[in-house]
Amino acid sequence: MPTKPDLSHAPVLLEVADVKVHFPLRGNFLQRMLGHDTGSVKAVDGVSFQLHRGEVLGLVGESGSGKTTLSRAVLSLVNVTDGSISLDGEKISGLSERHFRPLRKRMQLIFQDPHASLNPAMTILDAVGHPLRIHGIARDDRQVKKLVGEALERVGLVPVDRFLRKYPSDLSGGQKQRAVLARAIILGPELVIADEPVSMLDMSVRAKVLQLMDGLKSDLGLTYLYVTHDLATARYFCDRIAIMYLGRIVEIGSAADVYAHPRHPYTKALLEAIPEPDPRHHVPRDLPRGEVPDAAVPPLGCSFHPRCPRAFAACGWESRDLRALLEDRWAKLGPAEFARERAIIGSLDGLDVPSSEAFLPCAPGSNAAGVAALLEEHRQASPDEPFWRGIAATEERPGGVDIRFHAATDPRLHPVGDDDPRVEVACHLYETEPG
Ligand SMILES: Nc1ncnc2c1ncn2[C@@H]1O[C@H](COP(=O)(O)OP(=O)(O)OP(=O)(O)O)[C@@H](O)[C@H]1O
Ligand code: SF4
Ligand SMILES: [Mg+2]
Repeated sequence: MPTKPDLSHAPVLLEVADVKVHFPLRGNFLQRMLGHDTGSVKAVDGVSFQLHRGEVLGLVGESGSGKTTLSRAVLSLVNVTDGSISLDGEKISGLSERHFRPLRKRMQLIFQDPHASLNPAMTILDAVGHPLRIHGIARDDRQVKKLVGEALERVGLVPVDRFLRKYPSDLSGGQKQRAVLARAIILGPELVIADEPVSMLDMSVRAKVLQLMDGLKSDLGLTYLYVTHDLATARYFCDRIAIMYLGRIVEIGSAADVYAHPRHPYTKALLEAIPEPDPRHHVPRDLPRGEVPDAAVPPLGCSFHPRCPRAFAACGWESRDLRALLEDRWAKLGPAEFARERAIIGSLDGLDVPSSEAFLPCAPGSNAAGVAALLEEHRQASPDEPFWRGIAATEERPGGVDIRFHAATDPRLHPVGDDDPRVEVACHLYETEPG
């Protein structure tokens, strides 16, 4: 793989500073009538990074990690709840549509589905030339045709005359994405945000489209924000990579460093899950246990802790983890064992409110000593389960057992190691490392 130039000292084109995008949950009719706060989905929850001119920064993460929402926030397609976004040193978040409109020429968005991005009723000439007309750039049809022709040639849709009159349905997926790229470059943008631009294309054309994007970057001086869940293409295409989890960046650094020495347990898990290119060496690999949690009520402390194999006392253990642990165990028990345990532990519903203190009630006819003994039995059955490291104290009292977890603290992104550009990681495991 070719070594990428270090662009970390190039001028900053895009700066994202502690950006949050929270979507209010609508709640039910009664809650809205009574003006109750129904909470919010924390789609982006405090993201900061700088994107340098000429750089490709990959935003990588599982579904729901907030990649698209962050991209849309940069383009003012959703409002930021907090924080700020600047282009070339000028704040662009919070502008009215009228003030933002001129900036749209400088920033272009490419979506995953080239088919949905092109109006089926427009010829390629009309579709690719559309931005010229919207922004009043071309004087007449001849000039539109000339500029569209140049853009099509640049993206390899040649002979141009043949493609100008075609409709999207006449084109293959790869050709459609080339037409979308032509439309994106026609106004001479500085920043292109590409949201999964190749994931709907056939394997055979993905590399070609990425090569084209790479060529466009060098020839036209573009800067890319490349959004993907696919670490394999990100490795090929990006200078730096930001790994996102539940609305936050958990690791950011040069692609070379992040791939060679992943630090955050989530990054390690994602890298281990990349399929082997050679099927003879294929070993089935899984992402960490469990699913991505609900962004409306993220886990306390480190939001990765319920899935993290390295989690320890400080990582944010809480009431919901106790419920998950018990239910997980019960799902694996036979009916007789399950009935025995359910006759000891009462309702788990009280554990649903996130808290670093939990009360585990006894079932009717049972007592606190029975609950404590059963918990101990569970611990002995799975002593390596990280959950047990989170318990600071337990106390039997009438009706059940009080469980206090170690205080939850949020790991913040901070520099680790001595790589240049710096790698930053949000994980308690690295907090004692000198910055
Ligand atoms: N308009 C909206 N209203 C409410 N919630 C939203 C809205 N848009 C996104 N979300 C929620 O925000 C979170 C982040 O979504 P987003 O689409 O940004 O993730 P993503 O990383 O792009 O995922 P994917 O890989 O599936 O495209 C999800 O929980 C999603 O359900
Ligand atoms: S802080 Fe680090 S060790 Fe703890 S749960 Fe998060 S990723 Fe795992
Ligand atoms: Mg998305």
